[in-house]
Amino acid sequence: MKLLLSEKEIQGKVSALARKISRDFSDREVLLVGVLKGAFIFMADLARKMTVPVKMDFVRLASYGSGTQSSGKVRFTKDLETPLKGKDVVVVEDIIDTGITLKYLCRCLKARQPRSLKVVTLLDKPKRRKVNFAADYIGCKIDDHFVVGYGLDCAEEYRNLRGVYILK
Ligand code: IMP
Ligand code: MG
Repeated sequence: MKLLLSEKEIQGKVSALARKISRDFSDREVLLVGVLKGAFIFMADLARKMTVPVKMDFVRLASYGSGTQSSGKVRFTKDLETPLKGKDVVVVEDIIDTGITLKYLCRCLKARQPRSLKVVTLLDKPKRRKVNFAADYIGCKIDDHFVVGYGLDCAEEYRNLRGVYILK
């Protein structure tokens, strides 16, 4: 494994994202919607660095098997417990790859009529897109590598690493 982002670099990026989002939503309450499982560590750090009131909920979507290849299909395996109508919603994702997961999720969530819907992702692999999708807040754009750590897994391993590593 090769280090791509150190713990310090990640925390710098998370702080910058929290500042930006807090500024954009000043005087508002934000509902953070974490995409399980990968986003749980990022969301925990992001939420604690934000300076506006936040509430949190989670969805779980299945789009990947146990390996490193996308199946191209998405389904909810756990839905939100919070109604979205009239809320300022920020979806929190670990990484955007083909874009299929978030495109599907955002279409579903928009239909619930939130006041606003934005997406923050720690990592983005723009070269891998199969569908047209862009996040509103991006921590770091990376090349086409499979990465693990800081919530990201390969077959459920490595989520607890403090940095992000390229899996070779
Ligand atoms: P997409 O639908 O192809 O954009 O896939 C998004 C999901 O695939 C992410 O939420 C991750 O859970 C997973 N994923 C994509 N790339 C990686 C990676 O490099 N490492 C670990 N998981 C990844
Ligand atoms: Mg994910």
